[in-house]
Amino acid sequence: MRISDDFLMELRMRCDITDIISGYVQLKRRGRNLVGLCPFHNEKTPSFTVYPENGSFYCFGCGAGGEVVSFIRRVENLDFHEAVRFLCDRTGMAMPSDGFDDSMAQRRRRIYEMNREAARFFHESLMGEKGRAALEYYKRRGYSAKTIKRFGLGYAPDEWRALLTHLRQKGYSYEEIYEANLANKSEKNGKASFYDNFRNRVMVPIIDPRGNVVAFGGRVLDDSKPKYINTSDTPVYKKSLGVFGLNFAKNSKESSLILVEGYMDAIALHQAGFTNSIACLGTALTGEMAHLLSRYADEILICYDNDEAGRKATGRAIDVFSSIGMKMRVIRLSGGKDPDEILKNFGAEKFRKLIEGAENDIEFALLKAREGLDLESSDGKVRYLSLAAEILSKVKNSIAVEVYVSRLAEELNVEKTAITARISQLKRNNALRNEKKRYEDIQRESMTRMTKLKLHGDTAVRAVRAQERIISLLYNNPGFFPAVSERLSEESFTVPHLGRIFRFMSARAKENSGFELTLFSGELSPQEMDELVRLLKQSEGCFGTKKELLDCVGVLENEAQQKIQSTVDVSKMSDEEYKAQFEKLVKNKKGK
Ligand code: UTP
Ligand code: MN
Repeated sequence: MRISDDFLMELRMRCDITDIISGYVQLKRRGRNLVGLCPFHNEKTPSFTVYPENGSFYCFGCGAGGEVVSFIRRVENLDFHEAVRFLCDRTGMAMPSDGFDDSMAQRRRRIYEMNREAARFFHESLMGEKGRAALEYYKRRGYSAKTIKRFGLGYAPDEWRALLTHLRQKGYSYEEIYEANLANKSEKNGKASFYDNFRNRVMVPIIDPRGNVVAFGGRVLDDSKPKYINTSDTPVYKKSLGVFGLNFAKNSKESSLILVEGYMDAIALHQAGFTNSIACLGTALTGEMAHLLSRYADEILICYDNDEAGRKATGRAIDVFSSIGMKMRVIRLSGGKDPDEILKNFGAEKFRKLIEGAENDIEFALLKAREGLDLESSDGKVRYLSLAAEILSKVKNSIAVEVYVSRLAEELNVEKTAITARISQLKRNNALRNEKKRYEDIQRESMTRMTKLKLHGDTAVRAVRAQERIISLLYNNPGFFPAVSERLSEESFTVPHLGRIFRFMSARAKENSGFELTLFSGELSPQEMDELVRLLKQSEGCFGTKKELLDCVGVLENEAQQKIQSTVDVSKMSDEEYKAQFEKLVKNKKGK
């Protein structure tokens, strides 16, 4: 049923954790370890650490930790078996085939197949009798036959059960079709009925970089609403991470990606030769999405619509990309509302010019800052200078700062040194503020942890500490297991995570099998793995003694004893008794 230890050890030997993680995070060496910006949360200073020595990673910012398999699980959003398979593919190892339970992977595989089948169905509908109006629509938009074929564009017929009937014939169940979000469900009198999610729409398949059809977008043929319907989250698709066109763009010769708002824009750009164009499908760009894109390009060219919403989204995107240190430029669409319109009205050459003239993020921010200011008046000048200094104080590249300071000085006819001094002062303030915020974050996290524990009473805090210490003591000294096997079981732990980790470790200790972290990756959830790695980092270099272990077990036993004694049924007390009990509690509190 489970993947053998030998296999996991071999996988661990062949997958160099530094190598694997470098594919996702830019790592810098720091002593024996490597650090980088954490891919699992947004941060500006690196707290994500890789320990090549024992093949583990840990983020001091968000607490994510584990070894190579759990890293892949998280970053690729896979379950354990899929993550192992993923790493096997990378290292050329054959996946063990001893019939382990991979029902989730099976379900996902069915959805991939079903989506491919649906894409084929939509495409054939477009080419058939029913698709005439849709084909006309594509032609009107200027899509060539080659483009339609290349992107596998299609049409969902104007019927309630066209795709549904087709997929049922191919052997998919209603629930499966619903799970893939290809059908909707309505329930009447406790009876479910299903109908096509996409009806009378031109259909665009969303294909991931590995070539799987993961989702669809469908547009109406006229002006009715909603204009677009897109697949919502399914077991194979996370909308907030959905990108259209990456499967093609990743093969483009360009080292940049052109990010546009709509997938129809992206298709038009591809057709015009800009094969590095993509469109995000999630509503707001997130750090996670930015990380994903940064794996495919050195630079992002942001090209959102030329309207208020587009400009707002641009500002946000700049913040998100700069927070992960991604290079970017902003394409300003003058002469049209979106790329599609520019291409239609002026052709590809014009768009190429717009790319060449794209401002980098600093220029974009500076231009925005001076909007509406009168630079002839000294008031306007001062205001602009202080906004500009604010912007430049956040730029890390000192050469770039130098260039812009010179430019500003000339433009506004002021001394360079005045601007530089202001920037340095702001930089110092920023650094202080960041430091303070970091400190507060850490404080807050440990506070919430402690408040949670406090709810269970003060002694619980001690008991939890004892449980944590027991885990790290046993991990570091498997030889101590016999000493506590009579006194400890999974139930002795009040923290369920720790109980499970204990059960798993003691089973391993009995079999005399190893405690290598990778061997835990199949048994522990990513959260349990975080917890274990956190404890091990805490106890680093502090292996402990058997006496300490027995003391900790003592604390647990005491706690359990007290719990039994204090389980008095309050509802059976008289008012007098209850009051007395209450006062006693209050006194105890004060006494401390
Ligand atoms: P737009 O309305 O700007 O699309 O929405 P567009 O590309 O200019 O549309 P055309 O040219 O009229 O066909 C941009 C993106 O926002 C999402 C879609 O992903 C679309 O590509 N969107 C828009 C929706 O998901 N639903 C909507 O109703 C509208
Ligand atoms: Mn648009």
